[in-house]
Amino acid sequence: MAVVTLTVLCDNTAAMKEGIRAEHGFSVLIESAERKILFDTGQSDLFWHNAEVLGKDLTDVDAVVLSHGHYDHTGGLQRLARVGNSFKVVAHRDVFMPRFKKQKDGSLKYIGCPYDQSYLESRGLMFEFADAREEIAPGIFFVSEVPRKTVFEKGDPLLVVKDDAGRVVPDPFRDDASIYLKTELGLIVILGCSHRGMVNILYHILTLEGDVPILCVIGGTHLARVSPAQTSETIKALHGMKVEALGVSHCTGLDAADEMKRAFGERFFRAMSGVVIEIDEKGGVILQ
Ligand SMILES: [Fe+2]
Ligand SMILES: [Fe+2]
Repeated sequence: MAVVTLTVLCDNTAAMKEGIRAEHGFSVLIESAERKILFDTGQSDLFWHNAEVLGKDLTDVDAVVLSHGHYDHTGGLQRLARVGNSFKVVAHRDVFMPRFKKQKDGSLKYIGCPYDQSYLESRGLMFEFADAREEIAPGIFFVSEVPRKTVFEKGDPLLVVKDDAGRVVPDPFRDDASIYLKTELGLIVILGCSHRGMVNILYHILTLEGDVPILCVIGGTHLARVSPAQTSETIKALHGMKVEALGVSHCTGLDAADEMKRAFGERFFRAMSGVVIEIDEKGGVILQ
């Protein structure tokens, strides 16, 4: 019997299941014994569509958690706003910070949350801004403001914000958040985009929780635009942790995902739209 079920509702690629769709974005439904948490919403209604195809009811989720303010994780809030329920939305307070992507011609494209807080609140969404680490439900933790410790995770230079003087500076991504669940056998980690660095995030969680096994990690790793050296350093660091299953998604990119598949063999999978991951009472990971 599954202790935790993770259902990928939105990803850049889709599993071969009838009716399941993909888009650039990420969204996962986390179901544990008594909790139901929606982590991210993709960029459109697609997560909702895929949930319906998979028979997952999202109208009664206990909380919606946002990994950061980019449009490809927050765009689907509009769909939740149309339901009319009082959804609790947990995020770091920087989630509404205006953020941009540098274009080839030097211009900036807005890539932050497409809606402002007051609009979403007028539609019934209730924001609760979380601290750097917060237990949002028994055994389920939100973690952000991850220290940048590795030398090889440099951050994406194309992703920027404007400082108080209006200067364009690298996005600090204080809001880059992940979720982890504690079980007796180890941790289950769900990453959003890993803008602070996948290895930084996992190191930080292990610093908080001790050197425990990581039963499963899924989510975006932001390796799509990095050097091959960063990918191999990431793989090396992951080998140094007790990661028992690794399911990559979204901004991992196809090349880095292929490298990881070679490195982790049967422990590797692609956490695509429509993939359902069950973690059983023995810590086993079953994919559907
Ligand atoms: Fe993303
Ligand atoms: Fe992002």
